[in-house]
Amino acid sequence: MEVIILPTEHDVSELVATRLQNLIAKKPDSVIGLPTGATPLQVYKKLIQSFKENKIDFQKITTFNLDEYLGLGPKDPNSYFSFMKEVFFDHININIHNTHVLDGLTVDVAKECDQYENSIHHAGGIDLQLLGIGHDGHIAFNEPGSALRSRTRIKALTKETRQANSKYFGSLDHVPTHVLTMGVETILEAKECLLMAFGEHKSRAIAKMVEGAISSSCPASALQFHPNTKIIIDEQAASKLSRVNYYKSVFENKPEWQLKAEGFLSN
Ligand code: GLP
Repeated sequence: MEVIILPTEHDVSELVATRLQNLIAKKPDSVIGLPTGATPLQVYKKLIQSFKENKIDFQKITTFNLDEYLGLGPKDPNSYFSFMKEVFFDHININIHNTHVLDGLTVDVAKECDQYENSIHHAGGIDLQLLGIGHDGHIAFNEPGSALRSRTRIKALTKETRQANSKYFGSLDHVPTHVLTMGVETILEAKECLLMAFGEHKSRAIAKMVEGAISSSCPASALQFHPNTKIIIDEQAASKLSRVNYYKSVFENKPEWQLKAEGFLSN
């Protein structure tokens, strides 16, 4: 796990967008795992901008979203499928048939979750998984207490997560109680993970994830097992970490060849 601390949200988003752009340039049929939430919005905007400038071609990529609310169909404005269309898919040349979001209206949850796992497998696995993090250390909708070997499944949301997401629904009462989500182990099987976070309010979760014990009470801490994960955060989200200077010096002193090899610098 490498921690990259940059001054602002803008710098973080720029670096992550560059990584994605370089990945797609190198492997046009990349399989990419996508999150929702406020965190990735600037990345999506930057990728849309690059597309408009003819610097990136999304035609052959395949995407898998992390999660979806149970009970919300693709046409519901609050579904994550609608969110993805609105902030990203509708603005690029992605083949919508190559985008995958769990079906919140399924009548057979177990089958839907199994099929999702199979689709990821048949696509060749996820090349790059983009992630945000909840205040309590959840990734996707793997709430605290989630098995670190969990697969795609139904999950009940905590009141805190429903509260945090109620801004999209108008009131807490309208936030669904259950979701379908990729499991922690499903996420850990991605070849590369990039987790982003901004702001002081994420600093506790970041410190627990990076420097705390691996524990289901902070599902994101399972990323410590992953051999190719980068935590890319702003100064405020890094404010409760104890080894800030070390993390900064590692990134600042990286040779150019390594930045290129890791896809953070164009060739
Ligand atoms: C939700 C999503 C997560 C996301 C988290 C943080 O719970 N299921 O994938 O990382 O919210 O959201 P935000 O980026 O808005 O802080």
